[in-house]
Amino acid sequence: MKAIPHHEKDLLPSDGPSTMTAIAQHVYGPDPEAVLCPEEVATPTMGADEVLVRVHAASVDRGTWHILAGLPYPIRLAGFGLREPKHLNPGRAFSGTVEAVGADAAGVEVGDEVFGECDGAFAPHVRAKTAKLSVKPGNASFEEAATMPISGVTALQAVRDQAQVKAGDKVLVIGASGGVGSFAVQIAKAFGAEVTGVCSTAKVDFVRSLGADDVIDYSRTDLAGAALRFDAVLDIGGNGRLSDLRRLLTPRGTLVIVGGETSGRLLGGSGRQVRAMLLSPFVSQKLGTFISSTNEADLSALRELVVSGQVRPVIDRTYSLAEAAAAVRYVIDGRASGKVVIRL
Ligand SMILES: NC(=O)c1ccc[n+]([C@@H]2O[C@H](COP(=O)([O-])OP(=O)(O)OC[C@H]3O[C@@H](n4cnc5c(N)ncnc54)[C@H](OP(=O)(O)O)[C@@H]3O)[C@@H](O)[C@H]2O)c1
Repeated sequence: MKAIPHHEKDLLPSDGPSTMTAIAQHVYGPDPEAVLCPEEVATPTMGADEVLVRVHAASVDRGTWHILAGLPYPIRLAGFGLREPKHLNPGRAFSGTVEAVGADAAGVEVGDEVFGECDGAFAPHVRAKTAKLSVKPGNASFEEAATMPISGVTALQAVRDQAQVKAGDKVLVIGASGGVGSFAVQIAKAFGAEVTGVCSTAKVDFVRSLGADDVIDYSRTDLAGAALRFDAVLDIGGNGRLSDLRRLLTPRGTLVIVGGETSGRLLGGSGRQVRAMLLSPFVSQKLGTFISSTNEADLSALRELVVSGQVRPVIDRTYSLAEAAAAVRYVIDGRASGKVVIRL
């Protein structure tokens, strides 16, 4: 059984079970099948400023794999464990029902249906900080709500804060068919933008179904040579060259580099991001990147977009907890359209 650290002030709900079957990860490794397996572990305790949640669903994203593999290496310095994983498993985005509330945890009650971010979400019970939780949208299932904390919040912060999209803007979403992109297309549309999505051939119809006004198939159209100009380009996938991305922008347009997978173990291909930030002060376009941060206010803002019907979390596949490795494999193989969920 993997030892879960107990702190002096930690509390255990008096009538809860002391163990649970959860996904455990003891070593870093690139193969989900080799490092993720169900195991009997201690039920988490909670701190005074935390709540204990019975998890109904958790979602998978590209970051799940990075935490699982411990790659690129800087992720280990970001609190996930230097030599071995610090947390029970790499799951982070979840939804569930509050079972117990710490003495200093305000604004949440036992029985509340919530969604948010925590460590070790591929488990029947998690401890979570109230600052990273919000009330689940009433019109969303637990599975749908579990997709929102990381992918949805990243998309919201990219569209609203980084690109500052407003009505009438022309927005290009590169990587529109994925977890972040499927939210970004819908959020940009909700803000009144004219949205063009970029994805592979098989997912063109999917991106159109999200509400994109136009869809570009990157396997048939060379974006670098396209005579198109956008007020904002959200670069979520594909690792396009900075000069090519700039050519897609209007003279005062904004480039937001959200991500893009590379095999770089040291910096994870972040050279592009660094060059964009260094160049930005010297050109008329705004070139930047950011690391999203889940917080209660943005989870609530996202909830309102879902409640109003402007945004709909889209789930491609749902797996059981025991199939967590297969769920991560499906995402890293690039097969998912929208989000992949683990149902508990
Ligand atoms: N900055 C942050 O805070 C932050 C937060 C979350 C995620 N991220 C990063 O954002 C990236 C996307 O994450 P995700 O969870 O949305 O991943 P995902 O679900 O796997 O989506 C990846 C997207 O990239 C597209 N893509 C792949 N190859 C492409 C190419 N050559 N040209 C254009 N598009 C291409 C895919 O399209 P097809 O599937 O149609 O090929 C898909 O739409 C990852 O690198 C992740 O690490 C960053």
